[in-house]
Parts: sequence; C-alpha cells; structure tokens
Amino acid sequence: MNNDLKNHWENIYSNKAENEVSWFQTVPKTSHQLINKLNLESNDKIIDIGSGRSRILKILIDEGFNNISYLDISKEACEKSKIALGDDKSKVTWNVENVLSFKPKMKYKLWHDRAVFHFFTNKKDIEKYKEVATKNISDGGYLVLGTFSINGPKKCSGLDVSQYSEQSLNEIFKSDFNLLDSFYIDHQTPFDTTQNFLFCIFKK
Ligand SMILES: C[S@@+](CC[C@H](N)C(=O)[O-])C[C@H]1O[C@@H](n2cnc3c(N)ncnc32)[C@H](O)[C@@H]1O
Repeated sequence: MNNDLKNHWENIYSNKAENEVSWFQTVPKTSHQLINKLNLESNDKIIDIGSGRSRILKILIDEGFNNISYLDISKEACEKSKIALGDDKSKVTWNVENVLSFKPKMKYKLWHDRAVFHFFTNKKDIEKYKEVATKNISDGGYLVLGTFSINGPKKCSGLDVSQYSEQSLNEIFKSDFNLLDSFYIDHQTPFDTTQNFLFCIFKK
C-alpha cells in the first residue's frame, strides 16, 4: 500500500470533524436518488468505494438493503463510520484497503464511488481501477461514478485530481460498460462554495 497516501487520509480523518471536509453532505441525496432508480433487490450486493464517513450506508440500511460493503483506505474513517452506525455496524462488511489492491471474495451488483476515482491521475492507476471494478462487478451490475467535472476543482483535500466530462469518462469504461445516464450537479460544500460534479451510471 502507498503509505504516504494512507497517512494523508488517516491524518484528515483524525484531525477534521465530519463537516470540516469539502465533500461532506448531511444527506447524500444525489447518490440516494440514483441508486433508487436502479430498482435493486434488497439482497443485491452493494459496495461504497472510498466511503469515508458518508451517510449513504445508513440510508441503504434503512431502505432494507442487507448486503452492504464499505471500503476505504483510512482505518480512522472506517472506525468513525462504525461508531456512527451503532448497532447497525454489524450489517456492513468492512474493508480497509487501497481500492487498487482490493481482492474481494464476492462480485457486486452495485459499485458506488463518489469522489474517489478522480484521485487517480496517471494512466496506470486509472487502468488498474478499471480492471478492479470490472472484475468485481457482476454481469448486468452497475458502476456509479461521481467525479469532479471539467468545471470542477482541480484539487481535493490538497491532492491533484482528474476532471471528467461524460465523453472522457465513457472513453475509459466503454470497452466493458454501457453508459446508461449522466448528469452534472453542483455540490454545496460546508464552506459555502460549490463544486461541479459529473455522475455517470454504467451497466456491465
Ligand atoms: C473526497 S472523499 C469522499 C468520501 C465519500 N465517498 C463521500 O462521498 O463522502 C475520498 C475518500 O476516498 C478515500 N480514498 C482515497 N484514495 C483511496 C484509495 N486509493 N483506496 C481507497 N480509498 C481511498 C479517502 O480516504 C476518502 O474517504
């Protein structure tokens, strides 16, 4: 594992409150709405990649999904997410590792990633992410990516990011996935600024 990267994120989640990071959302409404549109079964396997302290897990648990997995590079984020879920934490499969070296024992019907894929800025890492996602999403399963758009920030959490358009994101994934839908949306940060995101829904 890349220790500098892990330390970066451990440091963030050790030193900042939940709402002191730009990506914080009281309610992850966009993700929730688009997951609802997929009409998943309650026992479909769902993973939130780079989940951090996202509140999407709680929403999915409350909707009755019973095969939810969490993945993040940060143990600190994972521990804080467990605390936030209380007794519901036993309903989630927890993974603390770099997504690029993730080797799950199951395939997922939904792979949801908000604001993680855009941190990969070189071709090798982007290809590796695609390989890991493709391998671990079931046939007919969904890949939902929320990245900074071409009008979004150039950095997140002090790290460089890749910005995407519908065309450039589709170009990366189109050999293995069909693009079902995409849209651009502004995220209102806790600091009263906006960040333009692109959301793409792909089907394998
Ligand atoms: C901008 S935050 C987004 C968090 C969450 N998805 C949300 O919407 O609130 C990016 C998250 O990705 C995690 N992360 C960054 N690089 C990662 C990697 N290579 N593997 C796994 N997680 C990673 C970070 O620890 C952080 O929680």
